[in-house]
Formats: sequence, C-alpha cells, structure tokens
Amino acid sequence: MQIKSFEEYQSWHKESIESPDTFWAKVAENFEWETKWKKVKSGDFNDINFKWFEGAKLNITVNAIDRHVKKSPHKKAVIFEPNQPTASQEFLTYQQLSDEVCRFSNGLKSLGVQKGDVVCLYMGMTPELLVATLACARIGAIHSVVFGGFSATALSDRINDAKAKILITHDSVFRGTKEINLKDICDEALKTSSVENTIVARRSMKNVNFNVDNDIWWHDLVDKQLTTCAPEIMDAEDPLFILYTSGSTGKPKGLMHSTAGYMVGTTFTFQNVFQTDENSIYWCTADIGWITGHSYLVYAPLISGVTTVMFEGVPTYPDASRFWKVVEKHKITHFYTAPTAIRALEACGIEYTKNVDLGSLKVLGTVGEPINVEAWEWYNENIGKKKCPIVDTWWQTETGAMMISSLAGITKTKPCFATLPLPGVDPVLVDAEGKEIEGNNVEGNLCMKNPWPSQARTIYGDHDRFIATYFSTYKGMYFTGDGCRRDEDGFYRITGRVDDVINVSGHRIGTAEIENAINEHEEVFESAVVGYPHDIKGQGIYAFVISDVSGEQITEKIKKIVTEKIGSLARPEKIQVVKNLPKTRSGKIMRRILRKVAANDYENLGDTSTLLDPKVVEELIEGKL
Ligand code: WTA
Repeated sequence: MQIKSFEEYQSWHKESIESPDTFWAKVAENFEWETKWKKVKSGDFNDINFKWFEGAKLNITVNAIDRHVKKSPHKKAVIFEPNQPTASQEFLTYQQLSDEVCRFSNGLKSLGVQKGDVVCLYMGMTPELLVATLACARIGAIHSVVFGGFSATALSDRINDAKAKILITHDSVFRGTKEINLKDICDEALKTSSVENTIVARRSMKNVNFNVDNDIWWHDLVDKQLTTCAPEIMDAEDPLFILYTSGSTGKPKGLMHSTAGYMVGTTFTFQNVFQTDENSIYWCTADIGWITGHSYLVYAPLISGVTTVMFEGVPTYPDASRFWKVVEKHKITHFYTAPTAIRALEACGIEYTKNVDLGSLKVLGTVGEPINVEAWEWYNENIGKKKCPIVDTWWQTETGAMMISSLAGITKTKPCFATLPLPGVDPVLVDAEGKEIEGNNVEGNLCMKNPWPSQARTIYGDHDRFIATYFSTYKGMYFTGDGCRRDEDGFYRITGRVDDVINVSGHRIGTAEIENAINEHEEVFESAVVGYPHDIKGQGIYAFVISDVSGEQITEKIKKIVTEKIGSLARPEKIQVVKNLPKTRSGKIMRRILRKVAANDYENLGDTSTLLDPKVVEELIEGKL
C-alpha cells in the first residue's frame, strides 16, 4: 500500500489520526494472517497498555519468507557483502533463506528452545545472524540481539536481565582490519550468567575454547535438520524481540516489541518512505545489533520481498571507496546510512566517490542522529548526483519504525529536516511545563499524542520504569527525549537529545552508564560525563573526573575500565581531571555548565549564582582540554 502523491499523503495522514482503526485495518489487509484481528487499536497514553490487532494470529516469518517462496523462490532475498571484498557474489534466494531458517529453527527446537524463551545473539554481520534472528521468530522465541561491539560485562548484563537461555555467537569476526574475538568475549560473559548452551558459528576458523558440555557448533546443529519447520502461530501482542538501549538514567533498558504491530508499522513505513518496488536492491548499512538493522535490514525489506544487502565490514576498508564500490557492484537502488558515515567519508576526500558508477541509486536515506547541512549537501551532490531524494528518517528504538520523514519523491525534502509525520504519527512540541506549543516557527520538546502500531510495549521486566521513562514527564503523552523545531512550513527538524543521552556516531549512550563505569575505578572519587560537538561523530564523550592522580596515568585507566564495562564505543575521547564539579547547594551537578565548558562555549554559561562555589567554573575552564 503506497502513497503516490502529496495529496494522498495528506488524506492518509488525516484519516490515520481521525480514524486509526479504519486506516490501520486497511494497511493490515496487505499481510498474511492465520486469523484476522477482532479489534485494531486499544489503549491510550493514560492507560499504558496499548494493543494493536488484538485477536489476530500470525507468524512474521510467513510474511517475510513463505509468501515470497510461493511466488518467487529464486529471487535473491539477501546479498551478503563480506568484509574482504571479493569478486564473487554470496547470496540467499528466498527458497534458500527459507531452508536455512527452518534448519536452524529445528536446531533450536532440538535444544529445547520453546515459544517465549529468550535467545541472545552476539554475532558479526553475516547471514547466520539474519538466519538466527528469523529462526527465533519462526519458533516464537524472543530474540535479544546484542551489538558485537559491547564488552563481556555489557553482554553478561543483557543476558542476565533477559534471562536468556541460549547464546549464539561466532568464533571471531573481522571488521576492517580488526578481529573481534566474539567467542572469547562470550566465555568471559558466561562466567557470570546462566546460559544453557552456546551455539558457535564458524567465520574466521580461528581456534577457540570449546566446552563440549555446553558449546555446540552451528554446522553440527543444523546438519541433518529438515528444511521445513511449521511456523509457531503467535498472538498479535506476543513479544517478537527485546532490544537494549540506553536512557538518561540507570542500566540499559530492554525494550520489548510486539509481533503484529511491529510488522505492520515497519513494513508500511519502509514501502512508503523509500518507495521501493519488487526490483529494488536495498542496502541498509546498520548493524543488526541496533534497531535500524532489525526493522530496516531484516524485517521490513524481507516482508516487502525486496533484496536486502548485508555488509560485514566498515566504510573505510580497504579504503574510503568501499561503500560506493558495493553500490556499483550490486547495483543498489536504495541506500540507507548514518550521518556519521557520510561525514567520515567526506573527510577522506572526494576522489573516493569518483570512478564508480552510482547510476543505479534512486533514493538515499539517513538515520540515527541529526545530519548537518554540509554532510547533507555532500551526500546529495556526490552520491545522489542531485537526482536522488534524501529521506531523513527520524525514529527511535522505542518507536520501532520511522516516525517523521519525507516520502521519497512525494513529499518535499529540506536539508536537515525530517520534514513531516508519517501516517499514524501525531507529534506535538511542548514547553518545559508540558504545555503544547502551537503554530509554526517554534521549538520545544518532541512528544507524541497517540499510540502507533510499532511502538515498544514495555521495558522487559519493568513496566513501571517504562511508564516512568516515557509517559510521566508529560501526562498523556509519549516523550521522545528529543528537542525539535517546527519551521514556517510546518516541517520538523530534530535538534538532538534534551536528556542525558549522548549520540556518538549514531550510537545512543547514557552518561550515567559511563559515569558508573568510571566511578568503579578506585582512584576516581566522582565523575560527570557530557557530550560535546564532534566533527565526524556528531558528539564526542567528555569526562570530568575528580581524582588525586592526574595525567595519562589516570586517563588510560579510565579508558580501559569504560572499554571493559561497556565497550570501546563508550570510551571518552577527552578526560579532564578536576578538583571539583559545579554543584548546586543541594549537591546536584549542573551539567548545563559542563556541556558549555566541553563545547568551549564560555560566553553563555547562564546563571551560575546557584552554584555552591562559583569559582569551580574558572577552574574547569583553566584546565580545559
Ligand atoms: C536520534 C535510531 C535526528 C534521536 C533509529 C533519537 C535522529 C535517537 C534521527 C534514537 C534523525 C534518530 N535526525 N536525530 N533522522 N534519527 N535520531 O534508539 O536523538 O538508536 O532519539 O534509534 O537518535 O536512537 P536509536
């Protein structure tokens, strides 16, 4: 179901807000159901128990695989582009994907995995990860994919929080020139967690510690399994997956997504935003360890029956032309990446975009963080050759699907603007008191007024935290944590997080998590972490640390402990040892001041009169890195 004109967009959006039941029922007719729904939508943001398509029964993999096997079994479902460029093409047709998913589903079942069990996936970006994800969905197990860049401690926290029964990993994988010893990290993580079995897929063929009692080779498990496996029939609201993400406080949250609403929401937005058709060769560069990979590498493209490309490597290996060579090689029509990658490649020089044929491209997309004008123009001119609309898609792990974005070739684009809400999305800007800011040319905190189908249903094991985090700041609304401007045309531009979350290279990291890791170091008394503007990463991590030790002696130790506790993605770029932190009389750290200092913005420190000791600010500025 695709919107084909701006007028159609307007009328669909209107209907979706005024009569959500009628609208989403029409959309849902395009999927395959075992039993149709009895009720389309229930619940609102006062009673945090919303449901979509209640009474319906389905399996999402029937939509992602079986449907296409019937119609076009030999069509390429997945093209795999390995880290090491090769001339040959590795791919899975829909039939082959079906066979592999069923074999692995049967393998999981043979280990006793049942509907509702949690399976943790800690893997590199190879087809096994995609197959394992879908196999979980096939048998009704809940997948919890943990990004391969997280440390053993972070992995173990996530395994324990979700009470995962099985862990799936690789021996080790290469990303660019770096080898990531996934199995070793799993062994470390399992010292403190209670997983029954670890399934190990071969990739690098390196020798790994293999515990014959609990470890199983992927190839042994799937060997002799049947290539058919009846799909487990799920209720619409049965959980499909848990995905951890960072918030402004506390431990990472395991956001839980439903089956039917997620399927309908991700697929509908995919087809409309990207305007794909059955010949599309679509490449999303995100890792499956993040929501973008879940929704727009695995589920929505496969459910839509396009060819989805999966890339194991990094944009700069063997050199900065890699992305563009992959586009040329596979004749990519739709390309979806993050601003940080665009900025990194832009910095490498224009020559890497030359001598490659990018003529297959029709639509470009960006996601994950605000894009700056320069990067937008560079992408538009050098990659899209000013012929490809750029869809700047705003959404979140919590929203499951894109929320604000232009529709390629249908709605207007404006550099750095996500532009207009998609059907079903009813955004509002509110002031600090929660009062709606009406009209155009205004700025405020971005909230949503109404539930939408692909919305996360809860935080796994902690519904109270779900309510407190998203629905308590502003009563009756979902609070996104983002600031946003609405311009004179009513177009939305996301300005970035307004809470204590930092967005580093499109990765969300809570400052509290980093501080907790730093504070575990015995030579640290206290710390405060903020983000600061970074040319490539969007934001960098700046840590102010109180310690008796100074210089490299302490900074190296801090970097090490953060890498151990979370992963190198959270390692502070700048660490300033200070005597004091700017605190109010009640002992609260004034982060606003730290953010300004970290950004070299000393002119606008604002009111510092409530500080216990205003001199602290001068000291901070003197010691600025
Ligand atoms: C930010 C990623 C500006 C935003 C899908 C959001 C964006 C957070 C955009 C969610 C965009 C995402 N423009 N900012 N197009 N897309 N963000 O959960 O701050 O990893 O709240 O989901 O990324 O990050 P998450």
